[in-house]
Amino acid sequence: MRAGVVQFRPEFGNIKRNLEKVLSMITSEEADLFVLPELALSGYIFESREEAMSLSQTPGGEEFEGVAGLARDRGATIVLGFAERAGEQLYNSSIMMSPDGTTSVYRKLQLFCDEKRNFDPGDRSPAVADVAGVRLGMMICFDWIFPEVARTLALKGADILCHSANLVLPFCQDAMVTRCIENRVFALTANRVGTERRAGQELTFTGRSQVVTPRGEILTRADVDGEGVFVVEIDPMLARNKAVTDINDVLGDRRPELYELG
Ligand code: ACM
Repeated sequence: MRAGVVQFRPEFGNIKRNLEKVLSMITSEEADLFVLPELALSGYIFESREEAMSLSQTPGGEEFEGVAGLARDRGATIVLGFAERAGEQLYNSSIMMSPDGTTSVYRKLQLFCDEKRNFDPGDRSPAVADVAGVRLGMMICFDWIFPEVARTLALKGADILCHSANLVLPFCQDAMVTRCIENRVFALTANRVGTERRAGQELTFTGRSQVVTPRGEILTRADVDGEGVFVVEIDPMLARNKAVTDINDVLGDRRPELYELG
């Protein structure tokens, strides 16, 4: 299958323009799976929870009609980060839209810095969706530093981690190589680029979106500030082989009965 990461610079608060831009970027490439950054529609630095709420969507909302249509017409699964409104709750979420019309949502479990003020932490275990025989799991940005998230997805059978990100620390791209090796999965990390200056803060996002194999090979890695769609050919079935040596298996050799504390 062809799998790609989309790296771009959202314009804060301009949902319409950001949506048009990502749709046109995706349309310019052929792939079976596209992963886009975290909070791709809104931008990242919110002045308040109220502002984040005002830039939020619901999964059934009209903003996603074009994404669903593109997924259907192009035969591609699209994963995209957005601020999810659920009644009074507000989550930093990603949505996965598949060609057959299936939609699933992941709510970021571990919130980073001011996200803790503006969003509610995810309230569901990360899930795996089977799309035409390929098992896809979602995680968002700072989830990378909690190996439990990738491990949970691997234990639930994920072949590919769809990792939408707005990274500001320099560690994740290299850390995801380890996440892939220790779980024998693919990871598509789609990061944004650019600098946002708002609410007395300035953040520069680190780009370097990438696709990594279960053996830790980096098939593509974007630069720190360019926009683009980076598509590679992968065989997701390689993730079903958890062998590290002839007699070692990264999931089968675990000793959960001895991992308890104390
Ligand atoms: C992050 O989790 N957006 C750093």
